[in-house]
Amino acid sequence: MDKFRGMKFRVVVLAAGKGRRMRSSVSKVLHPLLGRPMIEWVLGVVQQLGPEEVVVVSSGDEALLGFLSSKPVKVVVQREPLGTGHAVMVAQGELEGYRGPLLLVYGDTPLLRVETLKRLLERHLEQQAVLTFLTVMLDEPKGYGRVLRGEGGKVLKVVEEADFRGEGVKEANAGVYVAEADFLREALKELKPFNAQGEYYLTDLVEIGVKKGAKVETLLADDPQEVMGVNTRHELVMAQDVLRRRILWRWLEEGVTIEDPDTTWIEPEVSIGPDTVIRPFCFLRGKTSIGSSCRIGPMVELVDTVLGDGVEVRFCSYVEGSEVAEGAVIGPFSRLRPKSFIGPQAKVGNFVEVKNSVLGPGVKANHLAYIGDAEVGEGANIGAGAITCNYDGLRKHKTVIGPRAFIGSNVSLVAPVIVGEEATVGAGSVVTKDVPPGSLAVERSKQKVIEGWAKRRRK
Ligand code: UD1
Ligand code: CA
Repeated sequence: MDKFRGMKFRVVVLAAGKGRRMRSSVSKVLHPLLGRPMIEWVLGVVQQLGPEEVVVVSSGDEALLGFLSSKPVKVVVQREPLGTGHAVMVAQGELEGYRGPLLLVYGDTPLLRVETLKRLLERHLEQQAVLTFLTVMLDEPKGYGRVLRGEGGKVLKVVEEADFRGEGVKEANAGVYVAEADFLREALKELKPFNAQGEYYLTDLVEIGVKKGAKVETLLADDPQEVMGVNTRHELVMAQDVLRRRILWRWLEEGVTIEDPDTTWIEPEVSIGPDTVIRPFCFLRGKTSIGSSCRIGPMVELVDTVLGDGVEVRFCSYVEGSEVAEGAVIGPFSRLRPKSFIGPQAKVGNFVEVKNSVLGPGVKANHLAYIGDAEVGEGANIGAGAITCNYDGLRKHKTVIGPRAFIGSNVSLVAPVIVGEEATVGAGSVVTKDVPPGSLAVERSKQKVIEGWAKRRRK
């Protein structure tokens, strides 16, 4: 295994072209699968091989160039999409003087696995071929180039769908190649755009190699799904489903319970501890990290959020950019906006919104509250309907609630304001001045009682 390790090779990823079949103003390879652009899936797999250098052929699309600028790759721009062969010609400029194997991959095959690329490189080296490419057996090879073989099964050429007149050929070109740089340099000069699409086809290299009497090899992919090219939105959603299930299967193996894989969405950078239960209809997104023995869902969305061990996030809650410590319970129907830090064993209940606030250990905000730009001390209790009035129309202000303070129902805390340790604020109060520790603050008019009023009204 791994004969190519320690050996130098370079990669060219083809990501230009229009992607007309997507009918989109967005470059095809930027369309996301599980929140990650198609091209990033391909680059991720390629990087795992440890290549000396990766060259990406891009269109002039600004969004694509912007995306690529943050990646450890060299970018060349193919101004006009004159075909896959032309794209490699454009890449040549970056490869001057290079001798050795080049892995050529299309940016629209996001399901490729690193093992398959390794096997292709190994086959190429073992066979000392000048060109080795991956093929696949498909019952319906529609849309793919067909691999034509002659006597003794020797490969002859690849014929594109648009130029293919025969039938019954089930072997298709997967669009992954290893080519010796010297061979490639010479062969590219011979490409001609004389075909149904008027393009320079990279696939013509096969016939050119064979005619030169050079060694052209193939490797049959085990899993036809893996080499699927994404050309349409149908294929995009199908490929996404494959990736989604791969991720779910991996977490099942790691000891996570996923009650309903059909309705569970876990993005690639999420991590989950063992014995956590993911109930149906959950969306775990971005850089979310979940501890062990948590219970999530049903119908919960977590974005870029960290949960400690034993956290529960119940029905219909949305948490973004926040941290929830061990044993805390969120929901049902809670919303944690960015920079909410919920302490251990705290409870945030239905119709409670928290934003940019720290809730200490054991804090309870069980119903109908808004806590924004606040610091809430350990064990404090926030009553139903209590809110921090953190915004005066111009600026945001801070509210501090001391440990074990009790904020009665329907209280408005007009920030900036401090409620001291163990202080109590009576229900319905509008608090505009600090409340000293251990005191009671009540701000409301005295209740009037008129005896016998019902009887008088009837008269
Ligand atoms: C290509 C192959 C076909 C193979 C299939 C596998 C050719 C001529 N055909 O067909 O044999 O079965 O992939 O998925 O190679 N690109 C550029 N510049 C261009 C044109 C394309 O960079 O001028 C890039 C695209 O971004 C894409 C990739 O090359 O990622 C493949 O191009 P695409 O047009 O999708 O080729 P297919 O028709 O799918
Ligand atoms: Ca394609």
